[in-house]
Amino acid sequence: MLKKFKRLNNFFHPEVNKIDMNFSPFAMTVNGKVLQVMQATDNDIPALLVLEKAVYSGHTPWSSFSFESELKKRKNSLYLVVYQASTLVAFIGARFHPREAHITNIAVAPDYQGQHIGRRLLELMIDRARKNESECVSLEVKIDNDVAKRLYESIGFEATFIRKNYYQDTHTDAVNMILWLKPHQIKRRKLTF
Ligand SMILES: CC(C)(COP(=O)(O)OP(=O)(O)OC[C@H]1O[C@@H](n2cnc3c(N)ncnc32)[C@H](O)[C@@H]1OP(=O)(O)O)[C@@H](O)C(=O)NCCC(=O)NCCS
Repeated sequence: MLKKFKRLNNFFHPEVNKIDMNFSPFAMTVNGKVLQVMQATDNDIPALLVLEKAVYSGHTPWSSFSFESELKKRKNSLYLVVYQASTLVAFIGARFHPREAHITNIAVAPDYQGQHIGRRLLELMIDRARKNESECVSLEVKIDNDVAKRLYESIGFEATFIRKNYYQDTHTDAVNMILWLKPHQIKRRKLTF
């Protein structure tokens, strides 16, 4: 999960953005349940905060303000929410750049975890990055978040480097992980745990 917001503006190169950010809502079936996948709006923020509290032991790493400011960046951001009827069960966010897509956040409600909803949401963003001809997809994950790391590794993400003390509230390090979509020149040392 991305900790900071302002930094990303510099993180991505100021190139003309020709990325297709259109998104058409769709339904998917998971274990017999019909889930609606749609683009997040400000109306989803209260439910997003409830979901965060459910997965982060009562904490909200992203405040209402963080969500609001991210949801405004529609030119190169895509935030998706997944509902079963009126219950928010998951969300994912990503920033897209011609060369790199960055997964900024992902969470699946406890009762819905382990049913490949997270994997499907990641694959959706990866497909979009591939269609946009991005070279890679990156993300940050807490160093001790073994479930998430296993999921990312099973998709093909490689741990590259550690950001010390990245999450200042818990003083936890983050691991940067990259999924290469194209042959690449940049050599980033692969970390093993
Ligand atoms: C990380 C997270 C998004 C994964 O979503 P998910 O829908 O549960 O993950 P998936 O079902 O797609 O599968 C992930 C893999 O981990 C396993 N897994 C998922 N949840 C698990 C759990 N609670 N305990 C053990 N294993 C779990 C699954 O079995 C699956 O492995 P498989 O493909 O070999 O069957 C979800 O656990 C979550 O919301 N965690 C809290 C928030 C978080 O940590 N976000 C990541 C920030 S970087």
